[in-house]
Amino acid sequence: MRLLPMRLPSRSKLSLVAAAFCALAAVDAQAQATGPIKVGFMLPYTGTYASLGNMIESGFKLYVQEQGGKLGGREIQYFKVDDESEPSKATDNVNKLIKRDQVDVLVGTVHSGVALAMAKAAKDSNTLLIVPNAGADAITGPMCGPNILRSSFSNWQPGYSTGVVAAQKGYKRAMTITWNYAAGSETVKGFTEAFEKGGGKVMKDLNLPFPNVEFQALLTEIAAQKPDVVFAFFAGGGAVKFVKDYAAAGLNKSIPLFGSGFLTDGTLEAQGAAAQGLFTTLHYADNLDTPRNNAFRKSFALTYKAQADVYAVQGYDAAQMLVAGVNAVKGDLSKRDALTAAMHKVTVDSPRGKFTISAAGNPVQDMYLRQATGNNNEFRGVAVKALADPARGCKL
Ligand code: BEZ
Repeated sequence: MRLLPMRLPSRSKLSLVAAAFCALAAVDAQAQATGPIKVGFMLPYTGTYASLGNMIESGFKLYVQEQGGKLGGREIQYFKVDDESEPSKATDNVNKLIKRDQVDVLVGTVHSGVALAMAKAAKDSNTLLIVPNAGADAITGPMCGPNILRSSFSNWQPGYSTGVVAAQKGYKRAMTITWNYAAGSETVKGFTEAFEKGGGKVMKDLNLPFPNVEFQALLTEIAAQKPDVVFAFFAGGGAVKFVKDYAAAGLNKSIPLFGSGFLTDGTLEAQGAAAQGLFTTLHYADNLDTPRNNAFRKSFALTYKAQADVYAVQGYDAAQMLVAGVNAVKGDLSKRDALTAAMHKVTVDSPRGKFTISAAGNPVQDMYLRQATGNNNEFRGVAVKALADPARGCKL
């Protein structure tokens, strides 16, 4: 076999090829900096948390609409995946947005178990993630990173602030009740930490699988044990059923029910009389009488013909945080370090009141005591001022 002499390209041809590559790369970078910003919503649109997911998306889009429909001067393109609050499907679901749709930013989700899988995928692929609800402590704890931020809370925060209030009210013996997944167990842990620091004792923790709503046996146990106070974490459809069952069992007349604010947020109309008078703590109260909150609620009501709740606020603020980052780099998302640094530095002018972002990426925020009155969670005072999550295990 005769070997053909290999003809090497001349130096000038090589430079031409290199120049062509550079030009293509420049066009690509230009497209990245000027094409639409791809935002991937991974939220529950079905199941017990469906209304929470819808409110988050509505809040996010409202803020974008208020910016003229653009982010940092760029168009925006939305992608959506219904995560069904189902952790076993979470990795496949988030990869639809990361790998198939190649989104620039992930916004999600509600359920802590699903969010943990999202945070892992975001970390592995270095995708920007803004969590607009799920409180899983680990996300801004051991899993923290510059590309992962939250516009909501850590589970520890509302649990802790409710524990402070319950202890201040002089209750000594508490029982807790929740779903046995991260949001429930971590919220109860926060409650127990503050309640026992304040001189109380948690006698027993009761739980049931998510999203089970067969509360009867557990309510019977509460009635038998007669604690001074019950602390509950439930949200969405499950919270509606729990509050109604608690009242139907007659427990609301003998044992005060406290909860993190999700127990009564976005649910009061459906809970009716059963929820009236309930005390909860959260980083939002419907009737905060500030120009910022009043304008937000008016704009939300006009746009969606519905009343805003905490989930809408968290979606709205997720968009505010993203806009702060995108504006800082004038829409050039390739400047990732500058973008995330700006997102960490921003003071968010939220309907809940101004808040800052901790080094771990979690809001440092006032926690309010609220009381369910009519269809509002009304402000009754500040339970804990500027509460920062301890970010245990976060190494940056
Ligand atoms: C959670 O799973 O983290 C969660 C869900 C609903 C309300 C609050 C927290």
